Amino acid sequence: MKLLILGFVAILFIGCQQDPSLSNKTEESNIDQQVEELLAEMTLEEKIGQLNQYSGFMDFTGPQPNKGRTAKKLEHIKNGKVGAMLNVHGVDNVRAVQKMAVKESRLGIPLLFGFDVVHGYKTISPIPIAEAASWDLEAMRRSAEIAAEEASASGINWTFAPMVDISRDARWGRVMEGAGEDPYLGSQIAKARVKGFQGEDLSKTNTIAATAKHFAAYGFAEAGREYNTVDIGTSTLYNVVLPPFKAAVDADVKSIMNAFNVLNGIPATGDKFLLRDILKDKWNFDGFVVSDWDSVGEMVAHGFAEDGREAAKQAAIAGSDMDMESYHFVEELQSLVEDGEVDEELINDAARRILRVKYELGLFEDPYKYCSEEREKETLYNPKFRADVLDIAKKSIVLLKNQNDILPVKTSGQNIAVIGALADDKTSPLGSWRIGADDESAISVLEGIEKYDQNKYTYSKGADVVTGETQFTRELKVNTTDKSGFNDAISIAKSADVVIMVLGEHGLQSGEARSRTRLDLPGVQQELLEEVYEVNQNIVLVLQNGRPLALPWADEHIPGIVEAWQLGTESGNAIAEVLFGDYNPSGKLPMTFPRHVGQVPIYYNKKSTGRPELPSPGEVFWSHYTDEQNSSLYPFGFGLSYTSFSFKHLIIENNHSDDGTVSVSVEVSNTGKRKGKTTVQLYLQDEFASVTRPVKELKVFEQVELDPGESREIKFQLRDKDLGFYNNSGEFVVEKGSFKVYVGEDSHADLSGEFQL
Ligand code: NOJ
Repeated sequence: MKLLILGFVAILFIGCQQDPSLSNKTEESNIDQQVEELLAEMTLEEKIGQLNQYSGFMDFTGPQPNKGRTAKKLEHIKNGKVGAMLNVHGVDNVRAVQKMAVKESRLGIPLLFGFDVVHGYKTISPIPIAEAASWDLEAMRRSAEIAAEEASASGINWTFAPMVDISRDARWGRVMEGAGEDPYLGSQIAKARVKGFQGEDLSKTNTIAATAKHFAAYGFAEAGREYNTVDIGTSTLYNVVLPPFKAAVDADVKSIMNAFNVLNGIPATGDKFLLRDILKDKWNFDGFVVSDWDSVGEMVAHGFAEDGREAAKQAAIAGSDMDMESYHFVEELQSLVEDGEVDEELINDAARRILRVKYELGLFEDPYKYCSEEREKETLYNPKFRADVLDIAKKSIVLLKNQNDILPVKTSGQNIAVIGALADDKTSPLGSWRIGADDESAISVLEGIEKYDQNKYTYSKGADVVTGETQFTRELKVNTTDKSGFNDAISIAKSADVVIMVLGEHGLQSGEARSRTRLDLPGVQQELLEEVYEVNQNIVLVLQNGRPLALPWADEHIPGIVEAWQLGTESGNAIAEVLFGDYNPSGKLPMTFPRHVGQVPIYYNKKSTGRPELPSPGEVFWSHYTDEQNSSLYPFGFGLSYTSFSFKHLIIENNHSDDGTVSVSVEVSNTGKRKGKTTVQLYLQDEFASVTRPVKELKVFEQVELDPGESREIKFQLRDKDLGFYNNSGEFVVEKGSFKVYVGEDSHADLSGEFQL
């Protein structure tokens, strides 16, 4: 009761303020005061309780080491020994569990309810790597906003997103969940997504706390194998891995999740250098750090902590504030404090951080604020969201090849054969993180294209991609043998004007614990493609996948290739609009597509070697492969349009010594016959530096839509933040010397100029 009154007083007080910045400060100091008053009332056991998070009663986002603990979990909630839950969702469930905490625990502190609302809750947006291909920050912000609106209507107040891990390794299944390989693009997207989830005001009922994860370097797992060791140098850590986290912190993200991996010998969950020195001290992060699922306990398997007690001690000292599902905080911290092994101030600090977020969400004023049945009913799957998820889905599609203008396909009079199991799939396009959404809730490609009803369509599956179980936590069986559907597919292809083949990965073949050693079309799909090609070469290949694939044969033979990822609820509609030309594709790859898996890690912002070029024909001693080119199949930033663009008149004005800016302008023209949008990308090379710099780094971009024949001047201003880099001591430095500027439509941009600092 006391807590509710305090909250009420806070509202009255805030309501009297005029100046909004003043009112924010007042609100903050009010919250700080409330947190301190509450902390003073709490026992050590209750404070530790705030640091404990349990999964709900369906442990579906991690292994289940603690089966049969349900009764204990319930008892702990009632005893104030739990601060947050995950995987409890739906108004009825959340209300029931919240009630236990609020009504039965001594202080009635409300729980946080976390869930992996990664790219939608019920209405599903494209998987994050697909959205990143849109390069449209506002559309991504909106996508996260919709996710927050739906999830919050279902009782959830905290999401474990965005994943901001940079990765250069397509074998790693979780690249589907990130923004790709580039730290600048990744940072911009991190900000947009945090803003989308959290909004301007966290206390609103339709905004939720966000989590930037996984801190840090999870995307650099050796050999792309999930949960594997990471060993990277300081230059990569500071310049590539950390910037998106910093951007999320600057955008006021409320929590950060530990990574499962060891980073340079120290498990991230127990890494004081990462959590305290960088995150909390250097960056002043004032939210809280949540472990990943049992990542506290996993420090034993890593060979870092001898047992659960030692793991809890190391994690707490390092700066992990909340323990997800390992039980070690709740079981060990009290005696660790009593025995003088962990300073009680660290527990206070962690509890303070968690309580602050609860106050900011407004949970003390109304613990059931996300629990309105009526709102839940009217919000979930509300048709009003569909236009926006369709918009981002279209923008996420990348046109990879369009020989002889095979695309767009005519909207009438065509006999079209549609082939591939994924064409008829209404679940796979929802992607791997769609645990809140219902199976079969996506528009399939077939459904989308059949709306263009002036053509004649025939469909044949050809071959399954996977067989058997598609449950989230189970391994999928790839179809490597059954080709019984090939003949049927070949026979419909023979008489077709155009063949649309929808091939790729099932939605659950990427994501957590879905690493692959190959980047080809799984199973018998490549054979199917080649056999259909034998009878009809007029093929448009629509790819659905959660990672870059290496498809050199398709690139050489197939005239039309469309990268359509897993695009969520509106998938089929978005694909159809692109195929038939109602939407002119504008997506640009956020990650390099290799020619062969053996090139991985392959990324555009690489360093030069000492022997980068072939010195003379036939020479062997230079940096290359003897059996494959060095170059990618499709570079970072690449994507075609149904029109074409040209770039000219690059002008660089160097005013750095006067006002600290270097201005770059370029004229962009639409040289084709259709209206279209491109993304103007500016890359920089700091040619000589005290720590070597990449051959190119994306520094800024802008999207521009032009009518046929129209030209526009695009201007960029570079400042120190764009010109400098982190040295190996983690200091940001801007060094004098020569810089090269490249502007264009992808990372092969060759319109270039130079300036000196
Ligand atoms: C493990 C994943 O690594 C993490 O990203 C996720 O948020 C948690 N499980 C909770 O489901």
